[in-house]
Amino acid sequence: MAYTAKIGPSILSSNLSCLGAECVRMMACGADYLHLDVMDGHFVPNLTFGHPMVECLRKSVGPDPFFDMHMMVSRPEQWVKPMSAAGANQYTFHLESTTNPGNLIKEIREAQMKVGLAIKPGTTVEEIAPWANQIDMALVMTVEPGFGGQKFMDDMMPKVSWLRSQFPSLDIQVDGGVGPDTIHRCAEAGANMIVSGSAVIGNEDPRSVIALLRTVVSEAIQKRSLDR
Ligand code: DX5
Ligand code: ZN
Repeated sequence: MAYTAKIGPSILSSNLSCLGAECVRMMACGADYLHLDVMDGHFVPNLTFGHPMVECLRKSVGPDPFFDMHMMVSRPEQWVKPMSAAGANQYTFHLESTTNPGNLIKEIREAQMKVGLAIKPGTTVEEIAPWANQIDMALVMTVEPGFGGQKFMDDMMPKVSWLRSQFPSLDIQVDGGVGPDTIHRCAEAGANMIVSGSAVIGNEDPRSVIALLRTVVSEAIQKRSLDR
């Protein structure tokens, strides 16, 4: 099986005045990657940061940590080159935000980044299918994008199960309300890239939470491979 369990803290829930130190701390606590939420106040009703911040973060954490950019923006085409130049590794755009996903996928690849494709809760999973063989990762949102700390939407799990059945080796990410209470559902459905914000960063022992999330997902992957 090509995919493995990877845990990426969403640093949106951290003390944003110390973002560099928080990123370093998450990596030291065992994070596999860092999930960076970019919001433009238009595609979602909230505002975070853009490529100048990513460039500073890259300088602060060094070349190794994998930056998974979750682009909750209305014109994702606009930021592909600036994000690549700033040190982003993966560029996840929302299917709802563009009229030409094929061209955007091509532009992201030309900019030497991995490609992620996200869907909001109201978007059907079948809409990912035409692009699934051209992307590195599908992101199934488990809350309405825009804010950390929301309640996990269990009714998104059939989307994850369907993707896993159709695309057995695709990286599948879940984002929103994921933590120790909800990870079993995500893992059983077939998600392997786990974003967790408040549950990891709000805990006094982030290392243990990251380790627990990884163990649950790894066990589900192992079980699936034995069942095949
Ligand atoms: C929400 C963001 C998430 C968020 C996750 O729009 O995409 O990445 O920060 O935070 P939690 O895990 O607290 O829901
Ligand atoms: Zn996110």
